[in-house]
Amino acid sequence: MVNRDQSASAFPLRVDAERRLDRRRFLGVAGCAALLVAGGEWLARRGEQAASTPLTLAPIDTAGLAAGEARAVDAREGGQALVVRLSADEVVAFDRRCPHLGCPVVWSAANGRFECPCHHAAFDARSGRVLFGPPRRGLTAAVLAPV
Ligand code: FES
Repeated sequence: MVNRDQSASAFPLRVDAERRLDRRRFLGVAGCAALLVAGGEWLARRGEQAASTPLTLAPIDTAGLAAGEARAVDAREGGQALVVRLSADEVVAFDRRCPHLGCPVVWSAANGRFECPCHHAAFDARSGRVLFGPPRRGLTAAVLAPV
């Protein structure tokens, strides 16, 4: 049996004060969640904008690349591109920045496509378009300067 006097002293907060406290916590958590969502959206847009400017690559000799091989090449303005020889007469180059959040994409020779390890995305080898994953647009082609 519970004594009313003891239970009242064991829980000194009144119910109406506890509800006000819960509302504050809820508003604090909701405000933090809204800030996190807005910050994430801002980062995603920033990454998309940064990856949409084509890189210009210094002249490179692609003759040394075998079919299916890739080479990372530094761009003049900073950043890096992946140059891949797809066949004897076809070479492609794409900015390594993933259009989702900017992680560096890698060439998967086994799968014949570009892949982003950060959020499991893949891009077509010839066009750079998204095959699957969270990015909403494909890789940005890099400009290969003539040798
Ligand atoms: Fe590439 Fe998210 S950063 S899929």
